[in-house]
Amino acid sequence: MQRETFLCSEGDAYYERNRGPAEHVGVALISALQAVQARPTRILEIGASDGRVLQSVKDALSCEAYGVEPSAEAVKTGNARGGGICLSVGTADKLEFEDGFFDLVVFGFCLYLCDPEDHFRIAAEANRVLRDGGLLVIFDFYGSVPYKNEYKYKPGVFSYKMDYAGMFTWHPGYRLLSRKYIEHAASLTLSRDEAVVLDILHKDMKGAFPRKA
Ligand SMILES: C[S@@+](CC[C@H](N)C(=O)[O-])C[C@H]1O[C@@H](n2cnc3c(N)ncnc32)[C@H](O)[C@@H]1O
Repeated sequence: MQRETFLCSEGDAYYERNRGPAEHVGVALISALQAVQARPTRILEIGASDGRVLQSVKDALSCEAYGVEPSAEAVKTGNARGGGICLSVGTADKLEFEDGFFDLVVFGFCLYLCDPEDHFRIAAEANRVLRDGGLLVIFDFYGSVPYKNEYKYKPGVFSYKMDYAGMFTWHPGYRLLSRKYIEHAASLTLSRDEAVVLDILHKDMKGAFPRKA
């Protein structure tokens, strides 16, 4: 499984290649959250790396911040920074938090690296830890039809692209509140392979099945 590859080696290798700041990601995320007047008290970023994006969201929105990330090195570095965020080693399919612990869960550009066999478990775990009425953010590559690319740093690993919001919006308890299309590349390429979406979904289980009049 690619999950094991990231836990054992590729998480750290990815972190070594990408230690730099990611300010543009934090800016885009904060602005999208402010546009829907999000006021979370406790957030989780899944695929948080060393928490550089999580830290900027915590500082901007004054909330408690937790992150899960397979790279032990990224987790160690991020926790040692002392910015008040709490990172732990783990993967999206198994979240070590109580039910309804968060009011904002962010998939931080990690779903494209997850095994498709894990998608149902991943959706169930995010739904479990997100309280009713909370927000779910999906920041990831976008494909209007699902496809995969070879991951150039490790043979046998793939980048999987699809419309990840669909993992939740099939259920009436999730509604897409906002969607922003962004390019992954620094300069505009208009390549469909560079397409990224920043989606914000609202969880409303109480309102999912209104009584028929
Ligand atoms: C593109 S990076 C994004 C890091 C950070 N969220 C940011 O925006 O700067 C993707 C991260 O997902 C992590 N990742 C890979 N597989 C994962 C999995 N199954 N569950 C959670 N995170 C995973 C990688 O180790 C990597 O740190």
